[in-house]
Formats: sequence, structure tokens, C-alpha cells
Amino acid sequence: MNKQVHILILIFASLVFFNPAWSQSMSTQAVNSMERAALSPSRQQLEQGQAVAESACANCHGMDGVSTAAGIPNLAGQRTVYLYRVLQAYQSGERRNESMNHAIGFLNDESLLAVSAYFASLVPARPASGNEDDAFSARISQGDPFADIRDAMKKCVKCHGEDGNSSASGMPNLSAQSTEYFVTSMNAYTNGNRDHKMMKKLVSNLDDEQLGKMGVFYAVQEPARTATMGDGNADRGRALSEPCASCHGEDGNASGIDMPTLAGQDARYFIKAMKAYRSGKRQHQPMFDAVETLDEQEVIDLAAYYASQEPLRRNVRVPLTTAEWIDRCERCHGMGGNSADPRFPMLAGQDRSYLINALQSYAGASRDNSTMHAMSAPLSTEDIDAIADYYSGQEPKSVIYMQLPCDEAVN
Ligand code: HEC
Ligand code: HEC
Ligand code: HEC
Ligand code: HEC
Repeated sequence: MNKQVHILILIFASLVFFNPAWSQSMSTQAVNSMERAALSPSRQQLEQGQAVAESACANCHGMDGVSTAAGIPNLAGQRTVYLYRVLQAYQSGERRNESMNHAIGFLNDESLLAVSAYFASLVPARPASGNEDDAFSARISQGDPFADIRDAMKKCVKCHGEDGNSSASGMPNLSAQSTEYFVTSMNAYTNGNRDHKMMKKLVSNLDDEQLGKMGVFYAVQEPARTATMGDGNADRGRALSEPCASCHGEDGNASGIDMPTLAGQDARYFIKAMKAYRSGKRQHQPMFDAVETLDEQEVIDLAAYYASQEPLRRNVRVPLTTAEWIDRCERCHGMGGNSADPRFPMLAGQDRSYLINALQSYAGASRDNSTMHAMSAPLSTEDIDAIADYYSGQEPKSVIYMQLPCDEAVN
């Protein structure tokens, strides 16, 4: 390489260094020539790496790159470019971890690359055992993201139907509501804002995670119009509904996540709810204001109008099963977590509790990576557990990168 090229690289490096987008794109940036060379390291580079590893890393990561304690990642067989870039991220403080920020503070770039090439060259850890039984594969492959609330939801069917479309008169339809309103309305039965003994007892047996999941369950069902239309005059109701539209939507399909949809709602339930807001049994100032000036017949007409409207499904995505999540992960992390791209970490055979920590850190803000934030934020505790079980149990494989002959070499 001549001097000019060196200078160009320096200029380029300083531009990249001062680029504020650096931290976002670092993990997916193209592999540069120095990194590419480290994919087939020289003996000298490996020896340098080994010296660093033995003196500065082995205490925690093991002599052979296989972690000795839960929560510490295995490094043996991990992908070179990923290791190198992560070390840079610890060094710059972009990835925060006290042990790591200390451990590599004094190493220069060349040593970081050498130690990465060294760990990548080691034989990977043996995977955690015990994940091969049928119960485990059933758990990963089950097609039902609502499996863990099905039991609790059996109780709701009698009154609210299988899918939240109640067939019994007087029972509210649940399927056109937002997840948020569902949770608020459920909590109202226990915080005293609504008065219904049986609903109160049912809700007090559920925790927040279950409530959230049930809300998603009903929101992704296809809503149906009630059979209980009431005997009001729907045309008069339509005229009276004008002041309600700003909150509940023109046709009773609310768009706000904290607003209940009224379209297709059971007329008897509707009337009962309106009375409760008027009497103060349900405390809600805007609804008190809305119902205060209405007489009994007007409420009945409004009920008939809304009951006759077609409810629309809320814009809520059906949650993925663990197996569907894993399909997405493997687009980057490779089959069975054996990444074939030197920039993407291998997950196969990784320490289980480290995987859980890492996913929680991306989901929160303590690890800064927009791709992994988007992938991990929607995962539930069970998803994370199952994914960690799955990957820690996969057989890790080292990757051998092939160098293809290039045209210039032929002469
Ligand atoms: C005092 C214990 C300790 C020492 C010494 C140490 N590490 Fe670590 N290392 C950790 C812990 C703990 C983590 C997990 C940190 C986290 O969650 O971000 C980690 C994480 C890493 C990671 C991230 C792995 C991944 O999959 O993202 C790399 C790479 C790494 N260490 C390399 C090294 C190297 C190279 C050295 C020696 C120069 C070293 N470590 C020394 C404890 C240590
Ligand atoms: C025995 C019948 C019955 C059962 C069982 C029942 N509910 Fe209800 N539910 C009702 C009635 C009646 C109301 C209306 C109470 C009121 O007037 O506030 C209601 C209200 C609700 C509301 C508020 C609806 C709204 O539009 O504000 C939600 C949400 C709800 N139920 C969910 C559930 C869930 C989830 C279950 C199962 C865990 C369940 N219910 C079990 C009868 C029942
Ligand atoms: C300022 C916004 C606003 C206006 C205007 C408004 N509402 Fe509401 N309405 C709400 C909110 C918010 C709730 C949920 C209150 C709660 O949590 O109990 C609600 C609840 C209701 C409910 C109970 C729904 C259920 O599933 O339990 C009915 C029925 C209702 N509104 C009808 C009306 C009608 C009819 C009008 C017009 C006459 C109207 N609202 C005007 C905001 C509004
Ligand atoms: C679009 C590509 C992409 C997808 C899809 C993806 N990841 Fe990642 N993943 C990355 C990148 C890039 C990193 C390195 C981020 C960094 O530098 O911190 C990473 C890092 C990780 C890490 C940290 C590894 C370690 O050793 O610290 C875990 C764990 C992880 N991903 C799990 C998953 C899971 C589980 C899924 C699926 C739910 C997933 N990823 C989907 C690209 C992806």
C-alpha cells in the first residue's frame, strides 16, 4: 500500500469516527480490509491474541474461551468481526459493562483485533444439555401465543363468548376494544371505579401480564355486531351521536387507544353503562358531561344506533409464536444460531443467562442497538426464556470463511 492510500484511509477513518451515525450503523457496517484479513489470521496475530487472552481475559472467559460462570458469555468460536466491534464498543463506552470497560481499557486496536481472531479460532463450547426432550420442542413449536392465558380465559367464555363477541344479552362485546382500554376497564373493577362483584373477583386473580395478553387476545379477534339491538330509534340516535364522535368515532369505531368503541355494542349494556356514568357509580367526568343532558329515551335511541353499526377490528398485530420469532432471528443469526456473517454474533451454545441479560438490555435501553431493540422489545418474559433455552441448547459451529480467487490473481 502506498502513502497516498494510507492518508486516504486516515481521512476516511476520521470522518467515520466523527460521524454521529457511527454508533447506529457500527454493527452492520461493511467489513473493512483489516477485518477481512483477520478472518484468516496469521500465526503471529493468533499468538499475539493468545497472549492478551491469557493475561487479561482468561480469568472471566476461561482459558479456552468457554465461560466459567453464569452470565459471562462464551467467546470460543464467536465471529471475529462481531467480537472486534463489540470490544471497540466497550472501549468507547458505547456498550456499558463495568468489568469489560475496565478489562480492555488499555488495549490498542491491533490487540483488540488479534484477541478477537484468537477467540474466534477456538473450538466452541458444548451446548447446554437437556433441551432435546419432547416437552421442550413442543414449547418452542406450539402455534399458540396465548397458551399461558387460555386456562384463565375459560371463565370468560360463558358471558363474553369464545372470541369476546357476547351472545348473551346485557353482556359487553370485548373484541373491538383496544388493549389499553381493556386493561383500564378491567382495573376499574378492582380500583373501585366500577362496581361489579363478579368482575372484581375475576380481575383480582389476574396479574398485569395476563391482563395485557388478554387485551391483545380480544383485540385481534374479528368483532361482530351484537344481537341485542334494543328497541330505540336508531335514526334519532344517529342525530344525537354527533357530540360523541370526537371521542368515539363517527360510526362508533374509536381510533384513540384509550377510547372504547361503541359500534356493535350490546344495547342493554350500553344503557346500563350510561346510567352508571350519570349516577356516579362509574366515575368519569367527560362521560358524566356527555350523558348529563340526555333523557332516558335519548340514551335508548343512542344505544340502538351504536348497536346497529359495524364494529371494526383494532389495528393490533397477532403476536408471534416462539418458533416464528426464531425464524426471524435466524435471518441474521443463521440456522440454529450459527451465524454465517462475521458481523453477526453466533447465539448457538451461548450461556443461557447471558442471552437473557443481553435480550433484556436491548429491550430496555442499556444496550444501544436499534435493530436488536426492535427485535427484543415485543418479546414477553416467556418468549425470552424459551429463546434462551433454544439457543443455549443448539450445537455451536465454527465458520470457515473461504477466500474466493479474484480475477486479478489469474495471470
Ligand atoms: C472481570 C471479568 C472479565 C474480564 C477480565 C473480561 N471480561 Fe469480557 N465480559 C465479562 C462480562 C461480565 C461480560 C458480559 C457483559 C455484558 O453483558 O455486556 C463480558 C462480555 C464480553 C464480550 C461480549 C461478548 C458478546 O457476545 O457480545 C466480549 C467480546 C468480551 N467480553 C471479551 C473480553 C476480552 C477480549 C477480554 C480480555 C481482554 C475480557 N473480555 C475480559 C467479564 C470479563
Ligand atoms: C358471569 C358473566 C361474566 C363473566 C364470567 C365474565 N364477565 Fe366480564 N363482564 C360481565 C358483565 C355483566 C360486565 C359489565 C359490568 C358493568 O356493568 O360494568 C362485564 C364487563 C367486562 C369488561 C368491561 C367491558 C367494557 O366495555 O368496559 C371487560 C373488559 C370484561 N368484562 C372482561 C372479562 C374477562 C376477561 C372475563 C374472564 C376472565 C370476564 N369478563 C368474565 C360479565 C361477565
Ligand atoms: C371527551 C371524550 C368523550 C365524549 C365526548 C364521549 N365519551 Fe363516552 N367515553 C369516553 C371515555 C374515555 C370512556 C371510557 C370511560 C371509562 O373508562 O369508564 C367512555 C365510555 C363510554 C361508554 C362505556 C363503554 C363501555 O364499553 O363500557 C359509553 C356507552 C359511552 N362512552 C357513550 C358515549 C356517548 C353516547 C357519548 C355522546 C353522547 C359519549 N360517550 C361522549 C370519552 C368520551
Ligand atoms: C436484522 C438482523 C438481526 C435480527 C433479525 C436479529 N438480530 Fe440479534 N443481533 C443483530 C446484531 C447486528 C447484533 C449485534 C448488536 C450489537 O452490536 O450489540 C445482534 C445481537 C444479538 C444478541 C447479543 C449477542 C451477544 O453475544 O451479546 C442476541 C442475544 C441476539 N442478537 C438475539 C436475537 C434474537 C433472539 C433475535 C430474534 C428475536 C434476533 N437477535 C434478531 C442482528 C439481528
